[in-house]
Amino acid sequence: EKEGYDHFMLKEIHEQPKGLYETLNRRIEKDGSIKLDGIHLTKEDIENFNKVFIVACGTAYHAGLVGKFILENLAKIPVEIDVASEFRYRDPFVDDKTLFIAISQSGETLDTLAALREAKRKGARILSVVNVVGSSVARESDDVFYTWAGPEIAVASTKAYTTQLMCMYLIGLYMGRKKGVVSDEKYAQYMSELKQIPDKLANLLEGESAIHDLAKELYKREQVFFIGRGADVGVSYEGSLKLKEISYINSFAIAAGELKHGTIALIEKDTLVIALATQDKLYEKMLSNIQEVKARGAYVIGVAKEGNKEIEKQADRVIYIPDCMDEVSPFLSVVPLQILAYYIAKERGCDIDKPKNLAKSVTVE
Ligand code: M6R
Repeated sequence: EKEGYDHFMLKEIHEQPKGLYETLNRRIEKDGSIKLDGIHLTKEDIENFNKVFIVACGTAYHAGLVGKFILENLAKIPVEIDVASEFRYRDPFVDDKTLFIAISQSGETLDTLAALREAKRKGARILSVVNVVGSSVARESDDVFYTWAGPEIAVASTKAYTTQLMCMYLIGLYMGRKKGVVSDEKYAQYMSELKQIPDKLANLLEGESAIHDLAKELYKREQVFFIGRGADVGVSYEGSLKLKEISYINSFAIAAGELKHGTIALIEKDTLVIALATQDKLYEKMLSNIQEVKARGAYVIGVAKEGNKEIEKQADRVIYIPDCMDEVSPFLSVVPLQILAYYIAKERGCDIDKPKNLAKSVTVE
């Protein structure tokens, strides 16, 4: 059932264009508007919320980090985010004006389920973004929005993450439209960008062998830093988690602007830094961050949009992603990081689909 791929992870990486196409297109009506099957939020409900709380674990939490950006930008509502194991024990301020969004591939993660129950007890409206149909999180939610990723077998989550992102954009657009804060023009621009994502991803996947070559060069490293700004911060966290969980390399992600507040002390000659610089608005800032680490001798792999060539002057190597609007770049920038993690783990001879000490769904505390 691996359909010719060596591992489920690689197969699932390649299934992303299809999963994203399904997650998006099943929700678009003939007139171009969004239909959120499984979600029964009326205009009044949406206007009644004064806050969104996103709660999840691991990769799903990283989808939430990008989701926070998107919801604040589109639905114009304050968004808090927490990992489920913290949320459930810290008596967070949640009431009947809170929209609680749980994100979970399996729908069986115990911490996420316990956090959901806690939010429900406090009166929040519970919406979940889930992949497994009929799972516990789905059953206990008021509204369920399914990712159409299909079954995800590999412990390292890939297609669930990108389809979770797609759901967050759709929820943001839907809420923003109902509230009247997303103009026709902005809506059309987002829709056009989102519709192009599956094909752009398919193109990106054609460049897989170049990333494999890069992995052959890097697989003996024992430490990696991921840095980024804006929407790239969440992607840095995800790239770092992917790498550490399957290759056992000590990897660390940090907002690039935070480096100078301590972590830069660890950057020395030949330290490997993966610098995401996909945000046009923050490009110059990222270039200075790259300069900062280069000045200390770091070996830098940049990730940038096609056409933004200035980065070549500073980074040692550059991975290009197709050009797109800043706000949708996480779909495209995460994929080279998934592939890099995969091939690095493969070169290191790791058991990629079943990394040590990890389970596909964590149903214990
Ligand atoms: O099934 P869930 O999405 O609730 O799982 C959450 C995390 O356990 C999961 O994303 C984990 O971090 C993955 N191994 C990451 O690849």
